[in-house]
Amino acid sequence: MDRLQKVIAQAGITSRRNAEKLIQDGKVKVNGTTVTELGTKASPSDEIEVNGVKIEKEEPVYFLFYKPTGVISSAKDEKGRKVVTDFFPEIEQRIFPIGRLDYDTSGLLLMTNDGEFANLLMHPKYKVEKHYIVKTKGIPSKHDLKKLSTGVRLEDGKTAPAKIKLKSLDKKKQTAIIEITIHEGKNRQVRRMFEAIGYPIQKLKRERYGLLDLKGLNPGESRRLTPHEIKQLRNLAVTQTSK
Ligand code: URA
Repeated sequence: MDRLQKVIAQAGITSRRNAEKLIQDGKVKVNGTTVTELGTKASPSDEIEVNGVKIEKEEPVYFLFYKPTGVISSAKDEKGRKVVTDFFPEIEQRIFPIGRLDYDTSGLLLMTNDGEFANLLMHPKYKVEKHYIVKTKGIPSKHDLKKLSTGVRLEDGKTAPAKIKLKSLDKKKQTAIIEITIHEGKNRQVRRMFEAIGYPIQKLKRERYGLLDLKGLNPGESRRLTPHEIKQLRNLAVTQTSK
């Protein structure tokens, strides 16, 4: 249950402040009864009319967000830490992240208020490629990296084959930069894969999600997905989940 003015605002009809005015002016009905109290609560199953017109479901919105490190991938945090929705103060819709990136991971995160779309992309059979760039503590050998590409055993099962590429190494600092592409979404998967071969991750960034990348964005910035990108993601998901 949410405050009536919030439900109206989230339906994309008007701002929350205007919605309050409409309520006080007697322009809002809940299940056929005019409501003028601002504290009134309503749920999505209530029939709400504004100026005699029934409000419809919230307009769906889709964003590509460059998550900075030090941010929680959820809509709220009990400990009051910064969350991804803090970066969308202007957005009235109740958006949430599709999947998650760890607190210390930066990179591409999709945000939406479309639950169906999010479920589709998070379906275990949906094999969208996620491309990460990793900085390891220590320099893994070719043999170590081969283990990652064929699959390593984690406590929740063996990982599927991954694409791995050693990009550069720093012998003095004993670090390596490695690209890894996976299509699974186990919790903290990339970090656990590197821990499994004995090379903990110092830095982790998701650079690509399917056909999408971070081009043109700085950490903390976002852009709306184009209708074409939304369609492409949806089509890909539908064809892959029905296989
Ligand atoms: N794998 C991880 O370990 N962490 C992330 O945030 C994403 C993938």
